[in-house]
Amino acid sequence: MTCYTGVKATENRGDVMLTRRECLLAGSAAVLVPTTPGKSAESARIPDPASPLPHKDAFFPFANTYLNCASQHPVSRGARRALDRYLDYKTFATDSDYSNGAVYNRNLENYAQLINADVDEVAYVQSTTVGENLILKALNIPEGGGRIVTDDLHYLGSLPTYAELIKHGMDVITLRAEDGRIELEAFEKAINADTRLVSISSVSMVNGFQHDLRQICEMAHARGALVYADVVHQVGSTPLDVRETNVDFCSAASYKWLMGEQGLGFLYARKDRLAEIKRPWFGHYQLKQRHGLGFPSPVRHDEAVEYEHHESALGLFAMGSQPNIIAAQLDYSLQYLLDVGVERIQLYRQPLIDRLQERLPQLGYASITPRDSATALVSFRHDGDTQQLHDKLDAAKITLSVAEHHFRISPSVFNDMDDIDKLIEALS
Ligand SMILES: Cc1ncc(COP(=O)(O)O)c(C=O)c1O
Repeated sequence: MTCYTGVKATENRGDVMLTRRECLLAGSAAVLVPTTPGKSAESARIPDPASPLPHKDAFFPFANTYLNCASQHPVSRGARRALDRYLDYKTFATDSDYSNGAVYNRNLENYAQLINADVDEVAYVQSTTVGENLILKALNIPEGGGRIVTDDLHYLGSLPTYAELIKHGMDVITLRAEDGRIELEAFEKAINADTRLVSISSVSMVNGFQHDLRQICEMAHARGALVYADVVHQVGSTPLDVRETNVDFCSAASYKWLMGEQGLGFLYARKDRLAEIKRPWFGHYQLKQRHGLGFPSPVRHDEAVEYEHHESALGLFAMGSQPNIIAAQLDYSLQYLLDVGVERIQLYRQPLIDRLQERLPQLGYASITPRDSATALVSFRHDGDTQQLHDKLDAAKITLSVAEHHFRISPSVFNDMDDIDKLIEALS
């Protein structure tokens, strides 16, 4: 059975256009993506997302062994096709029933499904940082004062934000990691009755340490505080269930584990918090009916503008127009992640992480990731000769993330044990 998939709106589908999910349900072994003449290199058979991992053929051949998905995830063949189809439409050279609106709706639905939220709890944001800042503003921070509890495994780019908030009168407590983890007792001690917000990365960029988000939310809520989680290193690679954790807010960019691109991400806000917080900014995408877009009516332009906000996360957080091309890419990638299953990705990956945790310390690289970690990021110390480490990795054609005193490995759905063994060999 040949299934034509891609960005066509399901509600407008014709006889032969099926979503990839429908193809799977129809039992096809592989998805043949239709190609534009001259694009045959990208139109290879894309493996069925339900097929066993690794999914090497779902990606293009890499120049290097790529173990750096926590920095940037490669674009898959399927996403590349979705991008091509978007660009075919955007040339306006042919008739196309491509619908940006349908793609945006589908992405919100798919993202909500990925984190077990309702679709009206999710809004688009430009980046993780924008999501975090919107939540600070929505909570009237710093104007409202009070305590914020964060930790030094949170995004390094966010820590200066909290340093700034101290200057604006907030009482900021930054918990320090010991042995690569922040113990729950530290939160227990730090969250007091003045605490407004606990702001953390659910999975740390530094070493992949994963907080017990449910326990932290329970503790914070018991003292009247709310919880924001940066989930950029969790969503898409390690299961996240916002209902189970009870987290109040979380945001993530799409260019890492969501297999998207810089410029479009998602902000989740728990439904019952929406009425309690203030609208942090204003924008026409927050409105149910966007009057005044397109050609203004010459007879109406001096009338009072009528508008009504969406009663959803969009109604609070949406701003202006968004990058359609990234939405097109995500239309493929989010469905791919749902079809593969994040639990399955985690299970598949764990032996790769375990092997690194076992072998690299034997070679003199001490692990800074807790041994029981089950996330996609694992980090090790090196002796400080960063250039020498770069040279070794370059010679072996391996890409990973190297910092001054540690390096980080972050495998994804296309990596296998051979990649891990190649790295171990290069570091031996
Ligand atoms: C934990 C964490 N949060 C956020 C980001 C990126 O933030 P933004 O999406 O605002 O660029 C990164 C990037 O490396 C990160 O590691």
